[in-house]
Amino acid sequence: MSADTPPATPTDVGEILVTSAQLQERVTELGAAITAEYEGQAPLLVGVLKGAFMFMSDLARAIDLPVEFDFMAVSSYGSATRSSGVVRIVKDLDLDLSGRHVILVEDIVDSGLTLSYLRKNLLARNPASLEVCALLVRETADLAALDLRHVGFTISGEFVLGYGLDVAERYRNLPYIAVYTGAVED
Ligand code: IMP
Ligand code: MG
Repeated sequence: MSADTPPATPTDVGEILVTSAQLQERVTELGAAITAEYEGQAPLLVGVLKGAFMFMSDLARAIDLPVEFDFMAVSSYGSATRSSGVVRIVKDLDLDLSGRHVILVEDIVDSGLTLSYLRKNLLARNPASLEVCALLVRETADLAALDLRHVGFTISGEFVLGYGLDVAERYRNLPYIAVYTGAVED
């Protein structure tokens, strides 16, 4: 650890909302549902970096189909704990989406602004189909408008971390989802 690296702050990690066992059970169910829906096809999983990496990795192992992978990285302008809705593509896809059955894999849908942007952007590339599989969605999100095909868990307003989700790049490696109890900058 370098001298200017602040020590980890254990007080940032509050109540565990979704345990590792609950995550694995739900991801297995989602994988089985996707396997049934896309029978005879080779869907393309598009993961949104970085938050979706752990979910996508477990989800892919729960899908019994010849899936292919691609990744996109987006950055939304805003503070560490609030997205502004202005989205910039930091890393674009490598593969051509035309004629593909695309499943967009997201970590969390909060306001839905990031997702709306991504949906428009991906639909413009003429996929055969585009569905969204989000691990978490806020109960305040407009589910009908967002048209999410699969959702892992619905959570309330608290900022959460773990299982891919970060606070200023930390805590992505926690195997569970917990409430962030540190200071919220804005
Ligand atoms: P939206 O555009 O408001 O839906 O924000 C979506 C993005 O904000 C997610 O992909 C996350 O990167 C980030 N985000 C929103 N809520 C949380 C949270 O509770 N913990 C960590 N990241 C979050
Ligand atoms: Mg983030």
